[in-house]
Amino acid sequence: MLKHHVKVLLTEQEVDKRIQEIGEQITKDFAGKTVHLVCVLKGGSFFMCELAKHIDLPVSLDFMSVSSYGGDTKSSGVVKIVKDLDEPLQGKDVIVVEDIVDSGRTLSYLMEMLKDRRPASLTLCTLLDKPDRRVTDVEVKYTGFKVPDVFVVGYGLDYDQIYRNLPYIGEVVFDEEEGK
Ligand code: IMP
Ligand code: MG
Repeated sequence: MLKHHVKVLLTEQEVDKRIQEIGEQITKDFAGKTVHLVCVLKGGSFFMCELAKHIDLPVSLDFMSVSSYGGDTKSSGVVKIVKDLDEPLQGKDVIVVEDIVDSGRTLSYLMEMLKDRRPASLTLCTLLDKPDRRVTDVEVKYTGFKVPDVFVVGYGLDYDQIYRNLPYIGEVVFDEEEGK
């Protein structure tokens, strides 16, 4: 692992406040319905748990885990299901909860795949969006924050599997880059 440190980009208070707002918006938008949250592991897990607490409707949850073929997310748009959902999506109001939309490749593939399972509705909710990096169009209904093209960690996002537990969003600053 390269020498680095983590700089706070979005504080715990900012993140929590924004998640509460999204939860309230979802509560309004889906009034009278049950929402079925689909968490994309592992990154979406912290966001989904916090979000679910702020949705004042009946909520059910499911989890899935995907990885790109060959292990290189950047070069491949095809995702492999590592862990599939436990429940069918048919007839449900499904909200896919992700940590970040970067190139958009993973999500656009995943959303197409889930659409085939005939949910009543299918929307995407992401904590972070890096619009500068988008190569594949993907429709995002709820976005927590737009972030610049930097490597971010915390609130579910990792660098080499660590930092997921940070209660804020941090930027990984590689020490040799500093002062550049
Ligand atoms: P995609 O490029 O939109 O397909 O995003 C693929 C995945 O890359 C995301 O779901 C994240 O798990 C990961 N990712 C993208 N940008 C970052 C980042 O800045 N920090 C940590 N993980 C990231
Ligand atoms: Mg992810």
